[in-house]
Amino acid sequence: HQRWASTTVSSNLNSVTEEDLAHFSSFLAPSSILSTLSPSNTPADELTPFNDDWMGKYKGRSTTVLKPRTTEEVSKIVKHCNEKRIGIVPQGGNTGLVGGSVPVRDELILSLSNLNKVRSFDSVSGILVADAGCILQSLTDYLAPHSHIMPIDLGAKGSCHIGGNVSTNAGGLRLMRYGSLHGAVLGLEVVMPDGTILNQLSGLRKDNTGYDLKQLFIGAEGTLGVVTGISILAPVMPAATNAVVLALPSFDQVIPLFKIVKRDMGEILSAFEYMDRESYTLSVKHGQGKGLSEEEIEGAQCFVLIETSGGNKEHDEEKLSNLLEKVMDPDAGLVTSGVLAQSPAQFESLWAIREGIPEAIGKSGKAYKYDVSIPASKFKEFVDKTKDHLLSKGLLHENAIKGVVGYGHFGDGNIHLNIVAAAYTPEIAAALEPFVFELVASYNGSVSAEHGIGYAKTSAMRYSKDQTSIELMKKIKKLFDPNGIMNPWKVLPQ
Ligand code: FAD
Ligand code: MLT
Ligand code: ZN
Repeated sequence: HQRWASTTVSSNLNSVTEEDLAHFSSFLAPSSILSTLSPSNTPADELTPFNDDWMGKYKGRSTTVLKPRTTEEVSKIVKHCNEKRIGIVPQGGNTGLVGGSVPVRDELILSLSNLNKVRSFDSVSGILVADAGCILQSLTDYLAPHSHIMPIDLGAKGSCHIGGNVSTNAGGLRLMRYGSLHGAVLGLEVVMPDGTILNQLSGLRKDNTGYDLKQLFIGAEGTLGVVTGISILAPVMPAATNAVVLALPSFDQVIPLFKIVKRDMGEILSAFEYMDRESYTLSVKHGQGKGLSEEEIEGAQCFVLIETSGGNKEHDEEKLSNLLEKVMDPDAGLVTSGVLAQSPAQFESLWAIREGIPEAIGKSGKAYKYDVSIPASKFKEFVDKTKDHLLSKGLLHENAIKGVVGYGHFGDGNIHLNIVAAAYTPEIAAALEPFVFELVASYNGSVSAEHGIGYAKTSAMRYSKDQTSIELMKKIKKLFDPNGIMNPWKVLPQ
């Protein structure tokens, strides 16, 4: 485990004191304060779920978690912290994968979990306005009776907040169809680092009045302010959805298959996800979903999950069955076997194979996660080169690295390379970095496709952004947050 005590971050920031706590108690309900400081005296283990990240890799040492119930309360907390130079980590569902959602030292954790109400929904425009702390799945459930869906979906949907999604500019499983949050988010309400409330909760599809400030907060990972409200465009619920998992004899078949699927499915194609053999096997082994039988996957090198979402059930089913007939033809040599969901339960089960991969990896060991954009044609080469490199370092064995797996959003050119290790060790970290980042740069790729930079990737940013861009980002940070209280040591290289 990585302990922050051993890191060498310097700072002018102050720790939360009992006086600060007394101030917070003057306007927050007692249930909104968790602190090991007196007089709250919360047991330290109650703070562990807020201090530790999802991977069990990054561990903060915060004494205090505040859970405000209103935007005004958030504003008062932030204003006080700015005056006292106390660092703040805004926290949503704490499912982030780059160490951005937990403190580096003992920064105050500002949890948005009590800011969790839907503010309004307009079924004509499809515009949903919600508090930042709404859990993604709860918004999906809210919209279902109104026949709408969220434009974003991801494996962490049961825990992650919409505010966290916006702050990481999360991609997920629907990006191919509905685009990124930079398009779907119409407006934001943000508490700025001095406590000012910036209200840009627009309900307009079109608004070209000056600079589009909200875009800066989408993907800022809490370094520019606290997102408290979101206005987002929700698509109409598709009348029919289908899913199919196909086994492919080798990676060489993925691109020809993708081209056919894109052409033949057209507007109803909503996902094209990739799983290499190792990631598929790991997920099924850990009971994340049921797919093909042992015999059916014999000889398969990789798998794809194709989802369609359209407005006409019969028309969509006909399109899909024509496609399957074509690609399953043994003469085409594209696919060795496949399974088409026959029921809503099977649809969920097929998706569970893909969505369950991160959890299955977590059950198998400690994951080094690389979330990169590279040309889709290089997905396998990227994983293989990393594997060869680790083999040459003598690290590919049960006591060091148990597996190297690749999966991801093929349709978006985004692969997740995961190195499953017995433990986090400096030796493995040194073997992986900068090797992986240099490889990504050689493909002109991005070292972070969707998870963000957080604490984990600050020194890697330069592999995907030039110095001019980084300097401009630092100026923006200084302008918005001159005292550097918002999520310190995250995103920008020190
Ligand atoms: P947190 O983890 O709490 O925070 C993430 C970052 O945002 C931190 O820097 C935090 O300070 C900041 N933040 C959070 N809330 C606010 C706020 N209200 N205002 C300002 N800053 C804030 N990501 C993808 O892009 N695509 C995926 O498909 C995907 N799948 C995942 C599957 C699993 C199983 C897991 C565990 C994670 C996955 N992720 C994925 C990672 C991902 O970043 C998120 O799950 C999600 O967007 C984070 O939301 P959260 O509420 O948990 O935010
Ligand atoms: C995914 O696509 O499953 C996520 O981004 C999470 C991960 O990469 O582990
Ligand atoms: Zn992903």
